[in-house]
Amino acid sequence: MASKQTKTRDGFASSVGAFAATLGSAVGLGNIWKFPYLTGSNGGAAFVIAYLLSVLLVGLPILVAEHLIGRKTRLNAIHAYGSVVKGKKYWSLIGWAGFIAAILIMAYYTDVAGWVFAYVFKAIGAAISGTTLNSDTFNALAGGTWEPLAWQFVVLVITSSIIAAGVSRGIERVTKTLMPVLVVLLILCDIRALTLPGAFAGVEYLFKPDFSKLTGNVMLTALGLSFFKLSLGMGTMTTYGSYMPDETRIVPNAAKVALSDTIVSILAGLAIFPAVFAFGGSPAGGPGLLFNVIPLIFSKMPLGSIFTVIFFILSSIATIGAMVSLIEVPVSWMVEKGRMKRPAAAYLTGAMMFGLGILATLSQGPALGNAKIFGKNFFDLFDYVSSNVLLPLGGLAIAILTGWLLKKGEVVEELSKGYGTIKPRYIQLIYIFIKYVSPVLIFIIILNGFGVIK
Ligand code: PHE
Repeated sequence: MASKQTKTRDGFASSVGAFAATLGSAVGLGNIWKFPYLTGSNGGAAFVIAYLLSVLLVGLPILVAEHLIGRKTRLNAIHAYGSVVKGKKYWSLIGWAGFIAAILIMAYYTDVAGWVFAYVFKAIGAAISGTTLNSDTFNALAGGTWEPLAWQFVVLVITSSIIAAGVSRGIERVTKTLMPVLVVLLILCDIRALTLPGAFAGVEYLFKPDFSKLTGNVMLTALGLSFFKLSLGMGTMTTYGSYMPDETRIVPNAAKVALSDTIVSILAGLAIFPAVFAFGGSPAGGPGLLFNVIPLIFSKMPLGSIFTVIFFILSSIATIGAMVSLIEVPVSWMVEKGRMKRPAAAYLTGAMMFGLGILATLSQGPALGNAKIFGKNFFDLFDYVSSNVLLPLGGLAIAILTGWLLKKGEVVEELSKGYGTIKPRYIQLIYIFIKYVSPVLIFIIILNGFGVIK
């Protein structure tokens, strides 16, 4: 069956392409928007440390496990999980949970992506070139009705169209060329922000931990962010693993992705917090943090307004890379199982995402702002359920499946592809993490986060 699949399946042309696409999925709003915003509302450095540990001890091993299951089966996520262990079809539940998570994430992610797109035009029109920390423009946009909905629609049309056009052509090329430019711009922001008077308080906020801030819920949020950041627990990285050539060395590839992704987040934090403190703002500025602070940093630079425009254009592109990978999960299943044509599957998925997306977007304004479930509006609810519940549970299941149901020999064999006869020792080490360390940590953090244990 596998060989029949391979012939008709699209894939990444090379290991470099596989790396670029994986990184393209990881880097997105998570780095520039969510990481700073969550760090700011969860107390700063202690959260950052919890996040870094989550990436290393849980995120990286699960990333490896996902790639390995994808490449071993060469199937879409739902079928991959349902067929990787013989006679255990019900593991496809991981894929189904991932399907739901993908749609929930996209419902609010496309709202935020819409703000990023809108800011390109607001920056061109100089509508945001304030000289003090001011959230009027952001609040008017996010809290509006038709404007954010229109942008969300545009975002979904663009992303679905890229998906409709095919895997490797669509994704690889764009990410490979533009990501480095975004990093350069972030470094520029860092330099400017760090040289503002009073900036050092922001650096301390980011790196000097106050461990009394680490509650169970904060740790769960840090774990959830590590899953969200590395696109884990929902089948995205499994799907991308299924497109990887055999020559790709899964473990080093995953390590490079996790490291690069983390660096981008830290660079974003090093721009935002020093500036927030220098301008006397509050780090707990919420979802608007990025949108209020970045234009202000650039306004303190020569040619700042041009840089602001470029920054939001590049952020839009990074965001597309991540969204494309989110839509790919349901689409690859519809194409392979439902025998749908790629474009039809892409636009249908986009439409489902818009359906829920309307709820998330309108919950930021007067239209649905008062509709609360478990005390959260739709936007926060979709975020919480996906990142803090579905993704960690998905990760736990993936670790158990890989560590306890697959034979050790199968795991080692897949991870040893791309090497000569000498297999590096770290393959054994990562296996121990997948089998013991990651699942135990996820389990404890989930129970602790929900207050079941202290
Ligand atoms: N990793 C992406 C980001 O940080 C978001 C994402 C989550 C993408 C899950 C795919 C799957 O922005």
